[in-house]
Amino acid sequence: MERTLILLKPCTVQRRLIGEIINRIERKGLRIVGMKMMQLTDELLNEHYAHLAERPFFKFVKASMMAAPVVALCVEGCEAVEVVRTITGATNGRKAAPGTIRGDYSMSGQENIIHASDSTENAAIEIKRFFKSEELFDYADPLAQYLY
Ligand code: PPS
Repeated sequence: MERTLILLKPCTVQRRLIGEIINRIERKGLRIVGMKMMQLTDELLNEHYAHLAERPFFKFVKASMMAAPVVALCVEGCEAVEVVRTITGATNGRKAAPGTIRGDYSMSGQENIIHASDSTENAAIEIKRFFKSEELFDYADPLAQYLY
């Protein structure tokens, strides 16, 4: 089993889509092992998006990510990092395939509903960035036998 980090972006909270997106994640078979609403700070975003610091859109990314709270999720499943990236779709919602979360809900490269870790290495770093160990749960999972 693998864990990955998801952020439901401020646009998702503002558009009242939290439940709808979580429904799609759960329906796929991923299980939520951590979840909280957070107001992101400039300091945390400088760290989280450090790889974008030189990009022209960096300040817009940060402003957008601080416009309202996000919902941080840690989800678990077999090959969870790749599965979540697949159901998330391409960065730009206008180019994301129909049937993906971004393809179905976004017309934008920034207001694109969801952030999802892009590798197992980054997932480990990002989960630690957003969750303390006591905020993550490992509970009995009787349905797993029907999923795999
Ligand atoms: S890139 O372009 O390959 O470095 O993309 P990535 O590492 O996935 O990070 C892109 C994140 O920045 C947000 N964003 C944009 N990306 C591309 N072009 C524009 N104009 C842009 N504006 C904002 C994009 O939503 C990605 O956010 P996350 O949270 O990583 O999905």
